[in-house]
Amino acid sequence: MRPPFRLLVLPGDGIGVEVTDAALRIVEWFMPRLGVEVAIEHGLVGGAAIDAHGVPITDAVVARAMAADAVLFGAVGGPRWDALPIARRPEAGILRLRRDLDLFANVRPAFCFDALVDRSSLKPELVRGLDLVIVREATAGVYFGQPRGEETLPDGTVRVIDTQAYTADEVRRVAAFAIDLARGRSGRLCSVDKANVMETGRLWRHTVAAAAASHPDIALSHMYADNCAMQLVRQPRQFDVIVTDNLFGDILSDAAAMLTGSLGMLPSASIGPLVGGRRRALYEPVHGSAPDIAGRGIANPLAAILSFGMALRFSFGDEAAARRLEAAVAHVLATGLRTADLADAGDAAVSCARMTRAVLDALDRGAASDAPDALLAEA
Ligand code: IPM
Ligand code: MG
Repeated sequence: MRPPFRLLVLPGDGIGVEVTDAALRIVEWFMPRLGVEVAIEHGLVGGAAIDAHGVPITDAVVARAMAADAVLFGAVGGPRWDALPIARRPEAGILRLRRDLDLFANVRPAFCFDALVDRSSLKPELVRGLDLVIVREATAGVYFGQPRGEETLPDGTVRVIDTQAYTADEVRRVAAFAIDLARGRSGRLCSVDKANVMETGRLWRHTVAAAAASHPDIALSHMYADNCAMQLVRQPRQFDVIVTDNLFGDILSDAAAMLTGSLGMLPSASIGPLVGGRRRALYEPVHGSAPDIAGRGIANPLAAILSFGMALRFSFGDEAAARRLEAAVAHVLATGLRTADLADAGDAAVSCARMTRAVLDALDRGAASDAPDALLAEA
């Protein structure tokens, strides 16, 4: 018998708790349909872990994450923990998971559902059909580079240092991942750096170029990060797969997210190296813990739900199930259902629970006809 698939659920703080709960309803719907038993475990991360244990994540939870087949993550942070030093803040919990699980490829799709083209900050004609993916390196760069910290110079001046550092191997493996992803799509890959200013940018550029050279089916282009920010808001459909470093990826993925209408829509996957036939993986919505709306039941659960969709695709290897879920979400949006982040002023917004229920209903109907594409057509 196959061993059960171990899914560790780390809801975190704020709306992370609500949207993860919603995603779990979807997990439960799929469980009897996956052909593998799913064993769900729960743990604390972020402010919740600080309150309970004094640290943003315990060694025990990290160990369970390492042993898990996938982690479903909510969001961390909130004003209560803002005064803590960086290393003890809630955010340190997710950074430690990325680092300790070696989740170097942070995959952030920006996909514009047809029903939401009017929600974008750009004109509908610029975002209709938008479907790009940012592959962000997530275990190195300035987030982790040494030295970092504060020093006092002999004249009393305080000087603070962050270090941007990459090894060629760190660039090579994320380039290889992005190349693989691009081959399954249009083959267009845009590598983003600041090779005009930064030494790491030069390394980035020639390492990605060398990796792509042995793949004639890949159309590689290079872009400076500032230009990429501009192009994303000018003509975002020119992009298919973007590969970039940790900090640029953080910034550009927020910009790309907003093009789709709401940060509340976007899923992400953080994937580790292939070891013993499997890759560690963590799935999380791109949005944060939104303390301003936490606890009111109005958060948009779709990013968390679609993050589980990415788990279906990458960790369960079940493309059909992933598509079925995406079709259900597209269908629900097409019926006009909107959470507050998506609703126009004056429109009635539905709760997190109501939106989740609607996705489950759409899954039931799609499952009944066993033709998820029919849902899309209907939409
Ligand atoms: C993200 C977030 C994180 C990051 C924070 C919460 C540490 O902004 O996942 O994009 O900066 O990577
Ligand atoms: Mg970010």
